[in-house]
Amino acid sequence: MSTRNQPKNLLRLGVFFQGVNSGTVWKTPEAGSQTDFESFRRLIQTAERGIFSAFFLGEGLRLREHLGQIHDLDVAGRPDAQTLLAALAAVTNRIGLVATQNTTYNDPADMAHRLASLDLISGGRAAWNIVTTDNAWTGANFRRGGYLDHADRYTHAEAFVATAKRIWDSWGREDIAANGSQSAWFAGNAPKPVEHTGKHYNISYTSRLPRSAQIRPVLFQAGDSAEGRDFAARQADVIFSAHGGLEAAKVFRADITARTLKAGRPASAVKIMPGSEFILAATESEAEEKHRWVREQQIGPQQALAYLEQFWGESLAGLDPEGPLPDFDPKISESDVTRGSGFQGAKAVELTRSWRESAKDQGLNILEFVRGKSGRVGGSFVGSYARVADTLERYAESGAVDGFNITPWLIPSGLDDIVNHLVPELQERGVYPTHYAGDTLRENLGLEDPTDVAPAVTDEDNTRYEVAV
Ligand SMILES: Cc1cc2nc3c(=O)[nH]c(=O)nc-3n(C[C@H](O)[C@H](O)[C@H](O)COP(=O)(O)O)c2cc1C
Repeated sequence: MSTRNQPKNLLRLGVFFQGVNSGTVWKTPEAGSQTDFESFRRLIQTAERGIFSAFFLGEGLRLREHLGQIHDLDVAGRPDAQTLLAALAAVTNRIGLVATQNTTYNDPADMAHRLASLDLISGGRAAWNIVTTDNAWTGANFRRGGYLDHADRYTHAEAFVATAKRIWDSWGREDIAANGSQSAWFAGNAPKPVEHTGKHYNISYTSRLPRSAQIRPVLFQAGDSAEGRDFAARQADVIFSAHGGLEAAKVFRADITARTLKAGRPASAVKIMPGSEFILAATESEAEEKHRWVREQQIGPQQALAYLEQFWGESLAGLDPEGPLPDFDPKISESDVTRGSGFQGAKAVELTRSWRESAKDQGLNILEFVRGKSGRVGGSFVGSYARVADTLERYAESGAVDGFNITPWLIPSGLDDIVNHLVPELQERGVYPTHYAGDTLRENLGLEDPTDVAPAVTDEDNTRYEVAV
């Protein structure tokens, strides 16, 4: 693979289409449908025009329920990520195709085969966003119903991912198929079966596919706990982080760098792209006006209460949306109010205490507070094209992030402002690519080729996860 010389600290952009979310305004007439291929085609082609590195699909494995109904804040229904990305591969040329797929309810050989298939047919543009999915309500949808506790989920996930890597690595680099004949592929060295014997599964699998143009799919990771971060440091190429503010991003980078070096990899091996949203206009005041409009569309009084209820674990119907946040802690146990939310138990108590304090400090009522939170998974950039470009230039200079994963607040035109106005401003400042560096996602993210061959990882031994950084 050839990588042309690029200046240092380029920011990359990805677009994140969530599996479930309150960030996208679906009720405007232009929003179209979240199940219609046309919505995705228009969005991804705009992203490719803007030299985005990746098009990213989240995955919700069960529609969340709130007070016995499908949760009002969620997108109800979105086609399967790998199926959709395979179709989108046919209408794009360079942009990466990132499928969120969980390790808890899938099998490694099957997953490796499907992702290798996407990687081959897209010419080396596939990536896997590895998630573990953390609630029993989702688990109940599957044969393995919520059977893995937190530490076990990551032990399992790592053995799963390492096994998938060994499957991808089991054909030599020279074996990239020129034609379908066995002699042309193997030249006498047929791939050996990959064996894995562990706590959760035993497999003996012979890969059915050669390597792709980028050797194997790029690996993203999106968990944020200590175990999730260590797992990313050992196995991932890119972290989709939730730390988008500049100071938080610097702290996160330092933490990940320490973990990556400890794992014996160079710090540059793991890129960081926080989730973000951009609300832009020609002037500051227009952008502020747009910001207010977007927040009003995203969250009304009932939705603000519903948002809080999923963390508090009980109905808050008696509260005034224009009054203060609840002055009591959430229930500790998993509740029946919102089934499928990952924010339960001690995590919810800690989070909601910090919210209560911050709402009080800023003098915000429930509606204002929830509107302030809505739409973001990391950073929120509101302002004129030029000022936001200046802000992003500071991010590029700081080295805290390698780019951003953007959730558009409007589908399919939510990227137009970014591609038409922000991207040229960033290019002028020398912090954004002016062309795709290569044909594969690995090249376009500035990642090195993976080294041969991934080592086996056992899923029996939890002790090495106890090391704190
Ligand atoms: C920014 C971000 C995006 C995520 N997107 C998804 C998703 O689309 N689907 C999913 O099942 N889990 C998603 N997750 C959940 C994580 O993969 C993980 O299961 C969860 O955060 C629990 O792991 P942790 O305790 O290490 O954070 C996301 C997490 C983060 C931080």
